[in-house]
Order: sequence, then structure tokens, then C-alpha cells
Amino acid sequence: ALRRASNIHWQHLDVDRAARALVKGQTPACLWFTGLSGSGKSTIANLVEKRLHAMGYHTYMLDGDNVRHGLNRDLGFTDEDRVENIRRVAEVARLMTDAGLIVLVSFISPFRSERRMARALFDAGEFREVFVDTPLAICEQRDAKGLYAKARAGNIKNFTGIDSPYEPPEAPELHLQTTTASAEVLAQRVVDSLLA
Ligand code: PPS
Repeated sequence: ALRRASNIHWQHLDVDRAARALVKGQTPACLWFTGLSGSGKSTIANLVEKRLHAMGYHTYMLDGDNVRHGLNRDLGFTDEDRVENIRRVAEVARLMTDAGLIVLVSFISPFRSERRMARALFDAGEFREVFVDTPLAICEQRDAKGLYAKARAGNIKNFTGIDSPYEPPEAPELHLQTTTASAEVLAQRVVDSLLA
């Protein structure tokens, strides 16, 4: 259970997020990639970051596998731990947009309620949900990390799509279908929509 501190007050800061963004000369944003394991989230997010970086934008990528090695190394894959994983990452992403950055978040983030919670942290228009929609059968067929095979064999518990749910977004800002277009084409769509 969460322990809440008492006697803490919000500290007003004179340099605010608008002032920080002005120095950067860019509009902060959070590109929130969601999809099954092996759907291509990180591949597409990587390409998007590479292109934005090449155009001179200040970006940062938060990736599930990486953040779970550090900040969230105490968390596993139960529903409760995934909720906490996403809560922390959403708060970090919000801090990064406060700092003026364009943040790319690439986590399975399987639950609608947590994605809604994440969205609510941001200013209007700042949060863009990018649904990397690859059917489970295709992810499983690719199985780049061999995790689906392990999950099917019962060697990984609570694996998304097998014995842990994935709730697809109902109204994502972008819906990418990876079976009909290349990662390069889809990444460009994300860049174009951000800069439009
Ligand atoms: S979540 O649901 O948002 O908390 O997951 P995330 O932090 O993105 O971590 C997903 C990556 O962890 C590996 N992995 C698992 N995924 C799903 N279910 C289980 N049980 C699991 N165990 C390990 C897996 O490599 C995921 O990486 P991606 O890049 O999504 O394939």
C-alpha cells in the first residue's frame, strides 16, 4: 500500500514550464507508445527519436526494458506492479515535459485506466497516445526475444496477451498498423503528426 507523507505543500517556482520551453524553442510533448510485447513500439519510437533529434529537437526516450533496469527494478509483472510501473513513468515523463523536452514513452502499458491517468497529468494536446497495433499472432510468430515461447510453455507467468490482459486504446491520437506499413513509414507518420 502507498504511504502518504503529511505536512507537505506545493512549492511555487518562479521559472515555470512555459519559461523552460521557451529557452528550448520547442513545444513539449509526450508521445506515448502502447502495444503488445514485440509489437514494434521501441523500433518505431527509436526511429521517431532519431528523426526528431536530427532536426535539432531535444528529446528523451523512456523504454520499458531500460527503466525496469533502474528506477523500476523493484517491479515485476503483476497487475499491481504494472500499475506502479506506469504511474512512475508517467510522472517522470511529466517532469521531462516540464523541463521542455519531447518525451517518447515506450511501455506495453496494457491498462486503459493507467493510460488515462497518464494522459490526465499533461496539458491539453501535449499527450499523444500512439497505438502500435500488431496482432498477437504476429508478435508471437516473430518472438524476437523468445518470451512468447517461454510464456506458452508456462515458464513466464502473467505474460501480456497470454495470461495477462492487453486493453487496446479506444481513441488513440495515432493508430499504427504494422502489418501493412514499414516501421520507417509509420515513424514518419508520427513525426508528421507531431510537427503538423
Ligand atoms: S508494462 O506492462 O507496461 O508494465 O510492461 P513494460 O514495462 O513495458 O515491460 C515489458 C517488457 O518486459 C519484458 N517482459 C514482459 N512483458 C510482458 N509480460 C511479462 N510477463 C514480461 N516479462 C518480461 C518484455 O521483453 C517486454 O518488452 P517489449 O519491448 O514490450 O517487448
